[in-house]
Amino acid sequence: MIKIAPLSRLYNDIMPTLSAYYKDVYSNDNHVDGTYTTQCAEIISQHTKQHTVVTTSGTTAITSMLLAIGIQPNDEVLCVNYSNPASVMPIKLLGAVPVFVDINNYGCMDLSNLPVTKNTKACIVTGLYGDSVDWDQIKDIEVPVLNDSAQCLTTKYRNNMATQYGDMTTLSFAFNKNAPVFGTYGSVSTDDATLYGKLKIINSNGYNNAEEVQISQIGINGKPSEDKSAQCLASMQRLASWQNTRTEINLYYKDVFDNKGVMVKPSPGYSTSNHHKFCIFTKNKKLFAKMMHDKGIECNLHYTYNFSKYPALNVDNRTYPNTDFYVDHAVCIPCHQWLSHDEINKVVDTVCKINATIGVPSDVDSLYS
Ligand SMILES: Cc1ncc(COP(=O)(O)O)c(C=O)c1O
Repeated sequence: MIKIAPLSRLYNDIMPTLSAYYKDVYSNDNHVDGTYTTQCAEIISQHTKQHTVVTTSGTTAITSMLLAIGIQPNDEVLCVNYSNPASVMPIKLLGAVPVFVDINNYGCMDLSNLPVTKNTKACIVTGLYGDSVDWDQIKDIEVPVLNDSAQCLTTKYRNNMATQYGDMTTLSFAFNKNAPVFGTYGSVSTDDATLYGKLKIINSNGYNNAEEVQISQIGINGKPSEDKSAQCLASMQRLASWQNTRTEINLYYKDVFDNKGVMVKPSPGYSTSNHHKFCIFTKNKKLFAKMMHDKGIECNLHYTYNFSKYPALNVDNRTYPNTDFYVDHAVCIPCHQWLSHDEINKVVDTVCKINATIGVPSDVDSLYS
């Protein structure tokens, strides 16, 4: 099977570095927040903001941003209507109320007309598919901006890194991200020293026993571990070279597919994609993924959720036309840096054949006209 995220290949790639790191980590007695975590935070800060707290997942990182600004039950928080559930779940977990916003034509949160009211306490901004949102559209917003940039590591907004926007910014190093670990890991970064102090305590279950033990904050167990930090560091050190290969593969796909009538998700002019996902639009995505699977190629149905329709979240009666389009038609194919030439050719041939059988969505022109 040609996988979306082949972890055995990650292992082969980083093992020479990682085995030296593990030897060091496991021959020491300190496994929480040590030198590998410090190095990890430093390398993450080069992509984000001055201060970084390394944590157990992107979801934990988003939760700690909300805790750091003191989100309370019933506070309204703007968030995207379509994404990994992690973009909304932390709001619900704290008893706050998610107010959903549709995605734009490019599959990222639409910031053009946010429903900000006097009850809005924060806005979680989410870029998807490796593209950036249009940050200029919210430069004057008056509530804290929390950047869920899990899918945006190395993405650019105009000439800047998309991961540098917002009052705080989070990353995910989950197994399917462009700098993966074996499992999940995450980070939250800020330029504000006070917020940084809070984030450290929040990620340590709200207590600080460096001096006298104090409980000063509601927190969670997001403590970084040295072996996971070693994995994250090894991936971050390979990232630039991986991104070169990933970009080459993605540009090749786009070139071939554009000539063969496969509908590739476009990127906006203000965004330089990190090619985290390669997304195409097909008339029937479940059938497309099944036919690809039968030919030995894994696809992701990212995503099938319209958050505003789930009683577990916050049902509303508004319409989300771009969410509906992506829920029906967006599907992602393997595009990682470990694909061989034969595998790339197999993916290209199979996508073209299946696309010729199933066809492209009939409403796609209205989305991009
Ligand atoms: C946009 C987005 N936000 C948050 C997350 C959560 O990250 P994690 O899986 O590390 O908790 C993900 C993970 O896929 C994501 O894609």
